[in-house]
Amino acid sequence: MSNSHPHKLGTAIVTGASSGIGKVYADRLAARGYDLVLVARRADRLNQIADDLEKRFSIRAEVLVADLAEPAGLSATIERISSDPSVSLLVNNAGYSILKTLAETPDDLFTNMIALNITALTALSKAALGRFQQNGSGTIVNVGSGVGFAPLSMVPIYGPTKAYVLQFTQILQQQVAGTGIRVQLVVPGAVVSEGWDVAGGASLDALDPSIVMTTEDCVDAALAGLDDGELITAPSLQDETLLRNYEAASGLLLQGMFAGKPADRYGIKR
Ligand SMILES: NC(=O)c1ccc[n+]([C@@H]2O[C@H](COP(=O)([O-])OP(=O)(O)OC[C@H]3O[C@@H](n4cnc5c(N)ncnc54)[C@H](OP(=O)(O)O)[C@@H]3O)[C@@H](O)[C@H]2O)c1
Repeated sequence: MSNSHPHKLGTAIVTGASSGIGKVYADRLAARGYDLVLVARRADRLNQIADDLEKRFSIRAEVLVADLAEPAGLSATIERISSDPSVSLLVNNAGYSILKTLAETPDDLFTNMIALNITALTALSKAALGRFQQNGSGTIVNVGSGVGFAPLSMVPIYGPTKAYVLQFTQILQQQVAGTGIRVQLVVPGAVVSEGWDVAGGASLDALDPSIVMTTEDCVDAALAGLDDGELITAPSLQDETLLRNYEAASGLLLQGMFAGKPADRYGIKR
């Protein structure tokens, strides 16, 4: 569908806009003046949110009911991005976690989570990239997680899906460098949301409240980071040097791998 009177800021597509972080993104982007396409499975919630945002901010908010873990829902969302030149921002937020051991996790559950957290995010990023390359500009925001930085045994598959989001987004950033296209990675820590109920295996109530932030704080910090031109925004990370050290160490480790011969410690002499 094309928008014959595109708003100056264009249209933002927010996945997982029916609750939590995505719902706050929708609110904040509407307040900035973006028209919206709100994507998730729960039509009733999306319609309510769209009506509210249209009334409060005089923007257009369209609802796209889609299961992004299923081919039909993913295709419909790809098509929505690809066919509308007014699309200027994609927030790849839809995702969920499972807080169980691998043995306890049913196969259909982890394949579904991988389909959403990895496959859908990748396919939608690709569609948005194609759209933005035609437009000469645009922004992709990928929502990862702090657990993507290091292995944590309570999230044996969720953590690696977010490690994928981290590396995939960093590679996209390399590929769009010097163009009018921006790609931001947002890595929340622990945020109050329904996601904790969906995850199973851990209760938000059991966490020390001092380590959990609100969805509003998370999204407001993420948008402040976007405005500042940050590539990686860690809303709750106080000591930014930890992130810089991580980036530097992973880059050095990658370089160190390409030496062409066994390391001296293995004692292999030719
Ligand atoms: N909360 C945290 O502590 C935390 C920390 C780090 C990262 N994150 C990340 O933040 C993102 C948002 O999570 P949240 O905490 O805001 O959780 P949430 O409140 O449960 O929101 C998840 C959103 O994703 C949508 N969704 C789930 N499955 C979907 C599917 N198959 N197709 C389309 N939409 C789907 C849900 O809507 P429907 O159910 O209506 O489809 C909902 O709108 C996720 O990527 C999560 O991994 C959260």
